[in-house]
Amino acid sequence: MEIQTKDEIQAKTIDRKDFMKQVGLGFGAIMLMNCLQSCDGGEIPDPNPGGGNGNIDFTIDLNQMANSSLRTKGGFKVISDQKVIVARTLADTFIAVSSACTHQGTTVNYRPNSNDFLCPNHGSEFTAVGAVQKGPATSPLTKFATSFDETANTLRVFQ
Ligand code: FES
Repeated sequence: MEIQTKDEIQAKTIDRKDFMKQVGLGFGAIMLMNCLQSCDGGEIPDPNPGGGNGNIDFTIDLNQMANSSLRTKGGFKVISDQKVIVARTLADTFIAVSSACTHQGTTVNYRPNSNDFLCPNHGSEFTAVGAVQKGPATSPLTKFATSFDETANTLRVFQ
């Protein structure tokens, strides 16, 4: 059995302290890097993804009860977090435009009989592709593309 002197034991103790300091610094550096990566915006989800309608690409599952309004012709649904209104026309096609009226931001409604969108606030009207057909709004709604998967009963809305 090896016998250690007091100095040898003290040297090992210092080594352990140094080791722990280095581990601590390393851990701190990793945490700092994670923070900096998060802070550059690269991996933070957009809290308002539909705000500028910049990156619209989502899929609606029509099998879900919450989306049942889109199962019938003339039905529509506002996807609030995306600020998009999706409608199933009487001709059984899907249309999607930004839901915020370009006048003062009120959410528009779909009118199946005239196949257009009406703002209930001051009466602006927009065509099925979002063009202004009656003011006071002067700017169009943003139109989005749709792709219906009949087999899966899902609808993709995208730009
Ligand atoms: S907010 Fe839509 S017409 Fe004024």
